[in-house]
Formats: sequence, C-alpha cells, structure tokens
Amino acid sequence: MANLAITKLPDPVLRRKAHKVTEFNKDLQVLIENMIETLHNAPGVGLAAPQVSVLERVIVVEFGDEEDEDAPKKLYVLVNPEFMKVSTEKVMGTEACLSIPGLWGDVERHQEVVVKGLNRAGKPIKIKARGWLARIFQHEIDHLDGILFVDRASKVWKPREDEETVLAD
Ligand code: NI
Repeated sequence: MANLAITKLPDPVLRRKAHKVTEFNKDLQVLIENMIETLHNAPGVGLAAPQVSVLERVIVVEFGDEEDEDAPKKLYVLVNPEFMKVSTEKVMGTEACLSIPGLWGDVERHQEVVVKGLNRAGKPIKIKARGWLARIFQHEIDHLDGILFVDRASKVWKPREDEETVLAD
C-alpha cells in the first residue's frame, strides 16, 4: 500500500467529472487499498478518487456511530455510487475538505440517503445512511461530479485555532 498525495485546489482535476468504473481488475484493487491508506494518514472520514487525481467513480468512507463514540468505525468502499433515495428533510452542518485545507463551510444536506453502488468485487450494494454518514456520502459523491462543498455552502470561513475540529473528507 502507498500513501497518495492529496490533490488540492486550484488543481483543475477536482472540477472534472469522474468516469464510471467498468473493470474490477488489479489496478482498481490497488487504487482502493491506496485510497484507504491515504484516508487513514490524512486523517479523514472520506476520500474520492479525484482527490488523488484519478478520474474514476470510487469513494472510501470511514465513520463510526455519531451517537456512540465507542462504536468501532465502519469502512465503506463504493464504486459507481448513486443515490436511490434522498429525504426531503435537510440539515445544516459544518464541513471541511482534505482538498481545501484551512476553509470550513456550513452546508445544507439531506438528512437521510440511500446509496447504491458496487463493492470492490463488483457486487451490488445498498447503504442506508443518516446524519453525518449521509452527509459524508453526499460530500464524496459530489467530488465525483467536480462539485466541492464551497459551491454549496451558505457560509465559508477560515477556522480559528480554538474552534472545535471538523472532520475533513
Ligand atoms: Ni472533500
């Protein structure tokens, strides 16, 4: 496994639309392993392939249970993810992005989502998520379409040193 360099703004690769994955080959497995290691090292809660300059529709998300801090984190690997359902209810939350260091923003997101996609072996999977996990999926899938949280934010600011840390993805 290798730690990959995280692509940052203003690199134009972050603004491009990623391609659908059609082959579940060795290269894809290596990319996924490297993305997981890069996510751990960052550290962050989610990473999309365009953030390591690969224009493929792959995301990795690692997040625990927001209501139980002691619960183990769960790792999700999703290829060609898309939303099957989104709640009409939306919630505001503060986001950060590994590709936009030093900037936070308040973004309104769907409170609940159902995401479908393929796992790393190419088998269909479906994930129901709410709250922060739902937010992370929305942030990551946006990356696959060249959309960044600052595009959706109602307010963007440079955090003060004493502000509580926001998990980046
Ligand atoms: Ni991000």
